[in-house]
Amino acid sequence: MHFYCISTALQASIVESKEMLESSSVLLFIVFVLLFISLLFVVLIRKNGTAALIWHEIIKEKITNFIMNQSKERRILNFVLQNAVRGDPCSVMETIDKYCSEKEWAMNVGDVKGVILDKTVEEINPKVALELGTYCGYSAVRIARLLKAGACLLTVEFNPEFAAIAKQMIEFAGVQDKVKLLEGPSEVIIPQLKKKYEVDTLDFVFVDHWKDRYAPDTILLQECSLLRKGSVLLADNIIFPGAPEFVKYIRNNPRFQCSTYPSYLEYMKVQDAMEKAVFLG
Ligand SMILES: C[S@@+](CC[C@H](N)C(=O)[O-])C[C@H]1O[C@@H](n2cnc3c(N)ncnc32)[C@H](O)[C@@H]1O
Repeated sequence: MHFYCISTALQASIVESKEMLESSSVLLFIVFVLLFISLLFVVLIRKNGTAALIWHEIIKEKITNFIMNQSKERRILNFVLQNAVRGDPCSVMETIDKYCSEKEWAMNVGDVKGVILDKTVEEINPKVALELGTYCGYSAVRIARLLKAGACLLTVEFNPEFAAIAKQMIEFAGVQDKVKLLEGPSEVIIPQLKKKYEVDTLDFVFVDHWKDRYAPDTILLQECSLLRKGSVLLADNIIFPGAPEFVKYIRNNPRFQCSTYPSYLEYMKVQDAMEKAVFLG
């Protein structure tokens, strides 16, 4: 009887330990799978532009905005106001680059493609320049700091929050006398440039707004007679996210002479390029 009790208790404890072992192996398996997925996601974010943008622009940004009750663009501006030197455009650019490479990714042209932009502006030495897509004003500050006395940059932004932030950024950088921010959609602003903003022709256009507007706005610039022989367009993000319609249009157009500048997506190791197109008249 005594032996029977011991053996039943032993059997019960074996069954119990088996169950525990099974449930802990299931738990261990789940932890392992989760770790594997996280690792895969981290690798994917580093190597793949789309995954990186989904993470930075959708998941991480939305969560941070919710927690801080503030937009990423406002955080960028605040970081600049607290850490950059007022009236020093290079300090403003460096501070934005520092924030966006170390803390939160953002769609500024960035320090790497920024060098291509600088070289193009220096080479053209534009009197009248146009930028399509201001965002927080990073590239506007970058271009404006290179403009000679009497030259100006018109920059177009349709998002009122971004326009307000860019205005403060441009003023803080001390380049407000060289930059005119035009708020509204490019397709509305471009036809107004001649009459409302007294533009004759444009020497340089930095094309950096939504990619599906690159081709139609390039056509619109020509229809509005805003390009002259020698006007230069520089288009960002030709590879990532990509502007295939524009690339097809411009490279097959005998009125433009094109060159491609391979580079990397801002603050990432993802391939990108800029397209320079000289209008031949
Ligand atoms: C890539 S960001 C510009 C980045 C900026 N050029 C820089 O490097 O600092 C694109 C911006 O274009 C604006 N945008 C997109 N389509 C537009 C349009 N059709 N008219 C005006 N602004 C537009 C977006 O709101 C966004 O702020």
